[in-house]
Amino acid sequence: MQTLAENLTSQAISPSLEKLILTLADTSIEISHAVRHGALAGILGATEQENVQGETQKKLDIITNDMLKDALKADGTVRGIASEEEDYVVDADANGEFLVCFDPLDGSSNIDINSLVGTIFSVLPAPAGEFSEKSFLQAGRNQVAAGYVLYGPSTMLALTTGKGVQLFTLNPETNEYLLTDPAMSISKDTAEFAINMSNQRFWEAPMQTYINDLLLGTIGPREKAFNMRWIAAMVGDVHRVLCRGGLFTYPTDNKNPNKPFKLRLMYEANPMSFLVEQAGGKASTGYETIMDIEPSEIHQRVAVILGSANEVDACLEYHQVDY
Ligand code: AHG
Ligand code: MN
Ligand code: MN
Ligand code: MN
Repeated sequence: MQTLAENLTSQAISPSLEKLILTLADTSIEISHAVRHGALAGILGATEQENVQGETQKKLDIITNDMLKDALKADGTVRGIASEEEDYVVDADANGEFLVCFDPLDGSSNIDINSLVGTIFSVLPAPAGEFSEKSFLQAGRNQVAAGYVLYGPSTMLALTTGKGVQLFTLNPETNEYLLTDPAMSISKDTAEFAINMSNQRFWEAPMQTYINDLLLGTIGPREKAFNMRWIAAMVGDVHRVLCRGGLFTYPTDNKNPNKPFKLRLMYEANPMSFLVEQAGGKASTGYETIMDIEPSEIHQRVAVILGSANEVDACLEYHQVDY
């Protein structure tokens, strides 16, 4: 089986991008070991601190954030870093070619129940000139690489550098990622969806109607029985979509009028959209293609509807109706 390093060489990407991806992968192996030690390492549970997102930080949110930040700062290829867990962007290496955005631990509410978590990352080119938060405000379309690592029953890395999506599985004996799927592909059609149904009363009219029609099954306008799944870790839900198709959404809601969206554009929506598009799927907010959004701030949030192309299109049709 091909190793990650061999696969990257065969992709003919720049040596600096190759180096950066290997650093991200090596750090994810360290995170994987930390996650697996769980309670034995005293790393479960929450801290007293809140992040810029208004969430109480878990100990592992901070530990994994620091592991990635330290590794990227030392890599020499990284101009700057932005993280879900950092208030401000981090100035790394003046000669670095890349900007890296990451969600060090996605699904952190799952940590204390020994359930699925992962790491999501996005790599952008560093623009010439002075470094600031503005350097990061580029559309997802500019990404040169994106991926996630899933710390599940096995540790897996899904990666794109714009040449399809490759899936690697960690060999825990040798600490090497091995290529186990050279071309992940999302089926066009699906009968599976993922949404946090407890927010139903807070959604906009198009999403209310769309989900109602899915729930009606064979007696509804879709004339098809749909199944539902919700892992509460985007990384797990998107992985399922990449493996067997599906529609994943965290839609607009009015539960908290100051926070109509949950998922973060730079750390979650953009990297996942890049992977999904590269696997033949689609990713939209309902009104706009996610990767075409011109960001206005680093921590901005967006509605996310992604997955099997025909099902995303079906959902988008509901958004074109005037309610
Ligand atoms: P994070 O743990 O990085 O803050 O992200 C959690 C996100 C996402 O992974 C998941 O899909 C969603 O929050 C779950 O939200 P609910 O708790 O509302 O189900
Ligand atoms: Mn969080
Ligand atoms: Mn997350
Ligand atoms: Mn997180």
